[in-house]
Amino acid sequence: MTSETLFSPAKFGSIAAKNRLVMAPMTRNRAGAGNVPTDQTVTYYAQRASAGLIVTEATQIVPEGQGYPNTPGIHSPEQIAGWKKVTDAVHAAGGKIVLQLWFTGRISHSAYQPGGKATVSASAVRPAGHVYLPDWSKAEYETPRALDADELPGIAKAYGQATKNAKEAGFDGVEIHAANGYLIDQFLRDGSNKRTDRYGGSIENRVRFLVEVTEQVVAAWGSGDGVGVRFSPHNPYNDMADSNPEALFVHAAASLKRFGLAFVHVIEPVGTELQLAGKIKAAIGSALIVNGDYTFDKASEAVASGLADAVAFGKPFISNPDLAERFARGAELTAFDPSTFFGGTDKGYIDYPALGGTVAAE
Ligand SMILES: Cc1cc2nc3c(=O)[nH]c(=O)nc-3n(C[C@H](O)[C@H](O)[C@H](O)COP(=O)(O)O)c2cc1C
Repeated sequence: MTSETLFSPAKFGSIAAKNRLVMAPMTRNRAGAGNVPTDQTVTYYAQRASAGLIVTEATQIVPEGQGYPNTPGIHSPEQIAGWKKVTDAVHAAGGKIVLQLWFTGRISHSAYQPGGKATVSASAVRPAGHVYLPDWSKAEYETPRALDADELPGIAKAYGQATKNAKEAGFDGVEIHAANGYLIDQFLRDGSNKRTDRYGGSIENRVRFLVEVTEQVVAAWGSGDGVGVRFSPHNPYNDMADSNPEALFVHAAASLKRFGLAFVHVIEPVGTELQLAGKIKAAIGSALIVNGDYTFDKASEAVASGLADAVAFGKPFISNPDLAERFARGAELTAFDPSTFFGGTDKGYIDYPALGGTVAAE
């Protein structure tokens, strides 16, 4: 046991957080023309600055990285300027914010790819399921093209450039999205990686792309102390599977130890049978953020027991902009409405009230 609570300050590398409540990254599909964050997005994040740390919605590092309608990017000057307004507002409200770096890989469609080219992945394995096209109509996923080994350094460099852009936009750091079945995860797990070259087969080989991306991101940030990484060892979302998640993710974590990362963020829902978060923390030697179906009580336990340094909340943060204050006061939570999660208007985005019935001021 430790004497820490969810309300004790924490350090994630160089990021000093006022509490141990993290807002989990959540795609909301409300970017404006050119996939630029809007003024509503500025309000949305500023309203949630009661979190010790906000991780933004996944943000494509290059146009090719997109796979859903109206998701923001961090590759154009307009996007950087849009995000700068977000970081300024969050900082003015006393919060900290990192950008989640995203390349969707096979969880995309040629309709998103410049020139209508094929989607890319570790291997030519088509995921089961449906993609939403830019006009929100549904289509089956396509069979991706397996990336050539000599294309991978260029993609890793694009993660580095996106990191520089995030720094310019005023972020406190970045989170490498290596979870939920997107490109890096497609390399990590053997359900989607069938390669026979140095990026496939053994666990060491499947981790190589993640390590090369991290090298570029850390170099671009200047050190590891503003860089985090997110894993989802058990998540089958986006048609993902691995034959030995424990060996894979503990090795992946150990391979990143030398970078001195600010945090590792593990999606492992409460009650998951095979608990890997503690082993991942021990292997990587960074602060641990856990996530997945946490309640206030479960989160308090995770921090007090010394397992986790912080707990990320997703859905509760959508409908409770002042979640930290509500937890502190033992106040009731507002229920979230899944029908307004993805896309749409201000409804279900910036109109959830703070305590007292008022919509939190920007
Ligand atoms: C609307 C919505 C969008 C999400 N988008 C992302 C995302 O962009 N990046 C990511 O890593 N996880 C994403 N997730 C997963 C959440 O970060 C989180 O892992 C999940 O909601 C479980 O946490 P919770 O039980 O506290 O909601 C999303 C979840 C939801 C509900």
